[in-house]
Amino acid sequence: MGKQNRVQWVYASRDSGELEERYDQWAKDYDSDLEQDFEYRAPRMTADIFAKYVSKEAIILDAGAGTGLVGEILAKMGYSQLIAMDMSQGMLDAARKKNVYRELHRMVMGEHLDFASDSFDAAISVGVLTLGHAPASSLDELVRITKPGGYIVFTLRPDVYQGHGFKEKQDKLKSNSKWKLVEVSQKLQVLPKGEPDVYHQIWVYQVI
Ligand SMILES: C[S@@+](CC[C@H](N)C(=O)[O-])C[C@H]1O[C@@H](n2cnc3c(N)ncnc32)[C@H](O)[C@@H]1O
Repeated sequence: MGKQNRVQWVYASRDSGELEERYDQWAKDYDSDLEQDFEYRAPRMTADIFAKYVSKEAIILDAGAGTGLVGEILAKMGYSQLIAMDMSQGMLDAARKKNVYRELHRMVMGEHLDFASDSFDAAISVGVLTLGHAPASSLDELVRITKPGGYIVFTLRPDVYQGHGFKEKQDKLKSNSKWKLVEVSQKLQVLPKGEPDVYHQIWVYQVI
């Protein structure tokens, strides 16, 4: 498997079991593939926007934490109450080695999350709400487990927003007064070498 194709390889998974297996296998090379070869910028860009709204004492869920690239950046910024969640045990094992997460949990977004309502001051999810990964319905659970006044910050491709149920879900959460939109970034190139033609936006919502 060439490094160039690993992103496409996980996207080509036929179901969530295969996706989980592929991330398990990718875990040991993920950081070097993405950071060195693809210049993966999404964790830094999302953390910079997140830090505009979320205080350093906040209890934070990193939803789809992967190998912990987001947690590593947040920890360097001074956040210390980080909890990782991911469907892939292989990715979580890699994340644990970064020593930045207080807890790590294997759970699947799109299913019920085993956290009490209003558990977190904020949730961050980078590169997870996307095709074949975490569906739009995952947002209901992120809203449930985030305290009123807390923030949910995530990346989303504009084409996935438009065509895969996210726009409808995000609008519905707004019209049902579950959250309000705080900020949406311009379209950003987050994998300039790996996927130069793919753009993402960073969305910030505040739970009501
Ligand atoms: C592209 S990686 C992003 C990881 C990390 N947030 C980052 O930016 O490096 C996607 C991660 O989402 C996880 N994932 C995909 N679908 C998921 C789901 N439905 N529930 C939980 N995690 C999921 C994968 O196991 C993988 O670790």
